[in-house]
Amino acid sequence: MNRSDHLKVLIDEQALQERVKTLGRQIREDYGEEPITAIGVLKGSFIFMADLVRAIGGDVKVEFLGVSSYHGGTRSTGVVRITQDLRHPIEGQHCLIIEDIVDTGLTMDYLHRMLDVRGPKSLKTVSLLDKPANREIEGVDIDFVGFTIPDEFVVGYGLDLGELFRNLPYIAVYTP
Ligand code: PRP
Repeated sequence: MNRSDHLKVLIDEQALQERVKTLGRQIREDYGEEPITAIGVLKGSFIFMADLVRAIGGDVKVEFLGVSSYHGGTRSTGVVRITQDLRHPIEGQHCLIIEDIVDTGLTMDYLHRMLDVRGPKSLKTVSLLDKPANREIEGVDIDFVGFTIPDEFVVGYGLDLGELFRNLPYIAVYTP
């Protein structure tokens, strides 16, 4: 069986690009001319972040946090592990956590609490995808959402299955 037999496009490249541009404009409007510290959550957010920070424009600092919770499978283990911390303090800065997907909400909840105690001037969140059906944490607040998606396992545009498919230019549902 060909690997493309497992993939069904959910959000095509054009729809992604248009939505990311709109999100960027919306975020820039929200912050006005204030500088933003964009905090990308690795690895999944790397492609979304690259497109989003260009769409936001203005003064943007780029930082990365390494986090892992899935360990290669299609199900969350529920354990959030920091694999790489920020390089610089974020005290007094307008920070924006950038995620590719909020699924159970464990990662976003953990990161929000972890960064909030470091004294940012503000702390907001953006996720390209939101999968509310799988939520395990109540009240996870996402300030900006690209697409709300059904309860399917998705890959592409940064999202992986066993480290593959991150380089697809679209989001696809993966069926084994
Ligand atoms: C994914 C995704 C989020 C998290 C969301 O990361 O990038 O960080 O899971 O899931 P949750 O809402 O259930 O916590 P993953 O652990 O797959 O690592 P990766 O980004 O390196 O692929």
